[in-house]
Amino acid sequence: MTNNAHMDAMPPITETDAWAELAALSEQLRQTDLRAMFASDPGRGGALSFEFDGLWLDLSRQKITGEVIRSLAGLAEAAGLAARRRALFAGETVNVTEGRAAMHPALRDNGSLTPAAFADTAWQQRERFLAFAEEVRSNGFKDVVNIGIGGSHVGPMTATTALARSDAGIRVHYVANVDGVDLTDALTGLDASRTLFLVASKTFTTAETMANARSARAWLAAALGEGAVGDHFAALSAAPDRAAEFGIRGDRVFPFEDWVGGRFSLWSAVGTSTAIAIGREGFEDMLRGAHTVDRHFTEAPADANLPVLLALVDFWNRNFLGLPVRAVLPYDERLRHLPAYLQQLEMESNGKGVTLSGDPVAASPAAVVFGMTGTNGQHAFHQMLHQGAPLAAAEFIGVAQPGHALAGHHEILLANMLAQAEALAVGTKKVSTPHQHCPGDRPSSVILLRRLDPFHLGVLLALYEHKVFVEGVLTGVNSFDQYGVELGKTLAGPLLGAIETGAGAGPVSAAALKRLGDWST
Ligand code: F6P
Repeated sequence: MTNNAHMDAMPPITETDAWAELAALSEQLRQTDLRAMFASDPGRGGALSFEFDGLWLDLSRQKITGEVIRSLAGLAEAAGLAARRRALFAGETVNVTEGRAAMHPALRDNGSLTPAAFADTAWQQRERFLAFAEEVRSNGFKDVVNIGIGGSHVGPMTATTALARSDAGIRVHYVANVDGVDLTDALTGLDASRTLFLVASKTFTTAETMANARSARAWLAAALGEGAVGDHFAALSAAPDRAAEFGIRGDRVFPFEDWVGGRFSLWSAVGTSTAIAIGREGFEDMLRGAHTVDRHFTEAPADANLPVLLALVDFWNRNFLGLPVRAVLPYDERLRHLPAYLQQLEMESNGKGVTLSGDPVAASPAAVVFGMTGTNGQHAFHQMLHQGAPLAAAEFIGVAQPGHALAGHHEILLANMLAQAEALAVGTKKVSTPHQHCPGDRPSSVILLRRLDPFHLGVLLALYEHKVFVEGVLTGVNSFDQYGVELGKTLAGPLLGAIETGAGAGPVSAAALKRLGDWST
């Protein structure tokens, strides 16, 4: 706990001078709106945009000024960002409640930013799973089914969907839900003799994953016999012994360390499905992209540090402008799983009620994240973003270069993205009825990638990882545990018994269980 000593000594963030300054600034900004801010400073777009390695962050449509950024940076300093970041990269036990480091930066490092002991282990483990990925790409497998949930699912699925196109030769499927429809649908039409299962689970105990893995093994054994399991299963896990108990051959178990958090595990063996889809070189480029952000995060001053800025602006919107929700709106179909990825990354990391010292949080550590690709969302919930009660800030993510060769589509897509951001900012000028009125003054960010390749995806995802860390620091929470998910898991045990036997339910679930029983056939 030594590295958190300074946390315990700190006053709540809401009692700092920087907080008082920000509260005063937010009062002042209530007197103006984004339309007026652009009118009085047409150069705002340039002044409030930031660039790093093919990623451009435009914060000009946020309700901020240079002064707000400076004060927010002061708040981060008061919260001890520099010391906490040093502790993260030094491999200290920053995940104090679970007694571990959170060393995902070591997974994309050669020892230049993180202690060699971590980076060396990561390198050895990476060499093994990347060699395996190359072998799989060349030895006749046609379908790869990744079975995992949470971080053992959504990270690799997001990356593979972003980077691998359908002409890649090998198809990668992702099965997470214990609802048997998920596995059944994935297996429909697959040739068992050319199918490889990757069981991705840090703990190798997760109920949903184990149920799916058992059913997949039964499916394979029914087609090819038990003897084929060895050649058709691999495990990606921090619990190699449990993978062996499940029956997976030692040379097919690809380990990673317990200092890799589930939602930060894409860069470890959990990324094997992505490595199979895009190849070793592509995977290494993705790691390089993430590493450049690690370096930038550790070196750039707060007011030019992209993960810090993203965190500060989100924090400002929630805690000073009363916008607890963030709509994540990728205007690129390849990024269609990004909202789900960020839901886990942000809400599982920072959806917490107490600080590291166990006190109630004084400020909101996380937004409620939801989203959908543009332009689809425009025909769904954007109505509410424009005219409903102001609850959400928006985050648009676009890619300058298209992922296809169809004429005209990309221009329409990007024009719509900019139109949405502009409409939210300026609203309607003159309308004939109140029903047509869009008030505007609704903040958004625009993130642009030069192109969506492994390197830039690595940049984007690492940017969000560190953004989440900074928000954890600002509010004093441990971003690396997730005890809130345990209670539901515990209650599922007896309720499973009650569903199976029809007895033993408590008062809260009894009526629903009775109805389930009545309707079971
Ligand atoms: O939802 C809780 C959680 O522990 C996540 O943090 C994790 O990514 C997921 O379950 C899956 O866990 P495992 O990789 O151990 O199966």
